Amino acid sequence: MLIKRPADIPSSEITPEAQYVNRRAFIGTAGTLALAGLAVPATLAACTPADDRRASDMDAPELEQDEKVTSEEDATSYNNFYEFGTGKEDPKRNAGSLRTSPWTVSVDGLVKAPKRWDLTALLAGLAVEDRVYRHRCVEAWSMVIPWQGVRLRDVINRLEPTPSAKFVEFTTLLDPQQMPGQRTNVLPWPYKEALRLDEAMHPLAMLATGMYGKTIPNQNGAPLRLVVPWKYGFKGIKSIVGIRFTTTQPRTTWNDAIPSEYGFYANVNPTVDHPRWTQAKERRIGEFLRRNTLMFNGYANEVGSLYAGMDLRKYY
Ligand code: MTE
Repeated sequence: MLIKRPADIPSSEITPEAQYVNRRAFIGTAGTLALAGLAVPATLAACTPADDRRASDMDAPELEQDEKVTSEEDATSYNNFYEFGTGKEDPKRNAGSLRTSPWTVSVDGLVKAPKRWDLTALLAGLAVEDRVYRHRCVEAWSMVIPWQGVRLRDVINRLEPTPSAKFVEFTTLLDPQQMPGQRTNVLPWPYKEALRLDEAMHPLAMLATGMYGKTIPNQNGAPLRLVVPWKYGFKGIKSIVGIRFTTTQPRTTWNDAIPSEYGFYANVNPTVDHPRWTQAKERRIGEFLRRNTLMFNGYANEVGSLYAGMDLRKYY
């Protein structure tokens, strides 16, 4: 896939739908095929240390021959976003109350200059990429989604965490007026997630602002959500308003709520079952037969080294 360079991208062109029509010309083969709903040929071999590679060499691995992009309708109407209800159809129905502009992101903790960033300034000038990723929910369903956004590492480099920072924590907006689910105590609010800093710096991790070539819909986490394709979907925190750098491992919402079922790492792993169901298989939305779940969701070549020597049963 082709990557637009900062010089090509005015900050106003992060992903608004109207401008995407022009941007489509810049999407490489895989993205174009994927957006057309076609299978993308598997060609890319990976596993080269990220820092040694030019941006254009760090495209996400492509899909297998038999994998198709999930329909936009399914991806935007079958959601988990408990701030708007616990049913899969609730977020689409209820998320219209979220105001996504203006949007500020507070950056604090172990960082050179703690600051409240306007979202546009936070992302200004960063390369916008198109990435077609598998999306595997811990509930054993999955999708394939074309995202648009920036690399998380590019944002982190802009923020300049101090050498003692080892983790990065993300927080969702807390506003029961806009987020009716927060008037219930179904989860501890605000929703929080976190990554080890080396995971966050991996080139596959992104902050998405768009999907299917359009501004990301509210129900999918507008205006900024985390996408970490080798982890279960609950790590993909939506509507981010806070980024904090820490030395110690932050607490996370689902791990706090039900620690025996949802770990900090949440790497997709077919050999470690959820206590109540198998993780060896998954239902790809739009397909009839269940698929085998792949180690690290099919990104083992790229991310496996992050976990070398770790007991993935203990650190689930
Ligand atoms: N982020 C927030 N703030 N609130 C949530 O309830 N749900 C998570 C994750 N991010 C959630 C969230 C879960 S469980 C999943 S599977 C994914 O979002 C779903 O993303 P999708 O609706 O775009 O498929």
